[in-house]
Amino acid sequence: MTPKQIELIRASWDKVLPISTTAAELFYGKLFELDPELRPLFKGDLTEQGRKLMTMLGTVVRSLDNLDAIVPVAQASGARHAGYGVTDEMYDTVAEALLWTLAQGLGNDFTDELKEAWVAAYIILSDVMKEAAKEAA
Ligand code: HEM
Repeated sequence: MTPKQIELIRASWDKVLPISTTAAELFYGKLFELDPELRPLFKGDLTEQGRKLMTMLGTVVRSLDNLDAIVPVAQASGARHAGYGVTDEMYDTVAEALLWTLAQGLGNDFTDELKEAWVAAYIILSDVMKEAAKEAA
């Protein structure tokens, strides 16, 4: 990731944070619209789950200039996700729902350049998670 991409993501995250509850609601709504079969994987309270998701994304955003620091966290999370029944393909659906949510939340501020930056960050994170899931299997 380039310093410019990191800066763009951080600035965009500052705008998403104040609306994080709504963003999480939008995200799960979109995710289950894209693939209703994902709904039963979520056994707990979705509001609480949304908070956890936003917290983890916030940690990632803060650590973009020092990704080594969050590799162990992402690996542990990837292994847990395998246990939830999450497959590699589902990461693509989550990416689509996430990008859609950012577009909704940020409106015109969600430029192509910003989207590219988020895609780059998501690929780094999800690759580590998927790899750890394989090793856990
Ligand atoms: C980079 C991508 C992702 C991030 C940052 C993320 C984040 C999280 C976090 C923080 C939790 C809380 C529990 C834990 O840490 O183990 C969680 C749980 C969960 N995630 Fe993810 N996740 C991602 C991808 C996915 C994907 C692709 C799926 C597939 C549908 C998924 C489905 C779930 C499920 C089913 C749970 C457990 C919910 C429950 O117990 O009700 N996640 N996720």
